[in-house]
Amino acid sequence: MKVARLTLSDRASKGIYEDRSGPEIERILGEAQAGEIEWLRIVMPDEREEIEVLLKQLADEDRCDLVVTTGGTGPSPRDVTPEATRAVLERELPGFGEVMRMQSFAKVPTAILSRSTAGTRGQTLIVNLPGNPKAIGECLPLLLPAIAECLKHLRGE
Ligand code: MTE
Repeated sequence: MKVARLTLSDRASKGIYEDRSGPEIERILGEAQAGEIEWLRIVMPDEREEIEVLLKQLADEDRCDLVVTTGGTGPSPRDVTPEATRAVLERELPGFGEVMRMQSFAKVPTAILSRSTAGTRGQTLIVNLPGNPKAIGECLPLLLPAIAECLKHLRGE
């Protein structure tokens, strides 16, 4: 299975702080997945056009099974991840974002500030997660059964 983890953060990409979110995605998915994962690890700034180009490449050329983004989903002016994601999706799967917001809201009232979404492009599933490593721990485990099932459907199993 080929998985890209994509940290979208102006500050992490400049080295102002360490990217702890990408490694957290890798830890949780690595523990959940029985087989080998080939990882593509990327940290880049919140630049909508560059994100769109990269997402297309990861789906169309690298043929990733799964692309998980972290960061850039909030209401700040530089947060463009959901827009870039929607622009490249062929089919949106809004349930991923809905469940993250609903389940997290019980613990963290600010969870509804994340505009994260998900969907498919070709045989690739793209999922947005919030940027905070703690939020990844709260959200990603909820999505694992649906991610596994979606990948099977995309492979035509
Ligand atoms: N979801 C969970 N589970 N836990 C959190 O701490 N933080 C929220 C939200 N979702 C949070 C969360 C906050 S404060 C913001 S601004 C949004 O995610 C968007 O974060 P992002 O812009 O880093 O993606």
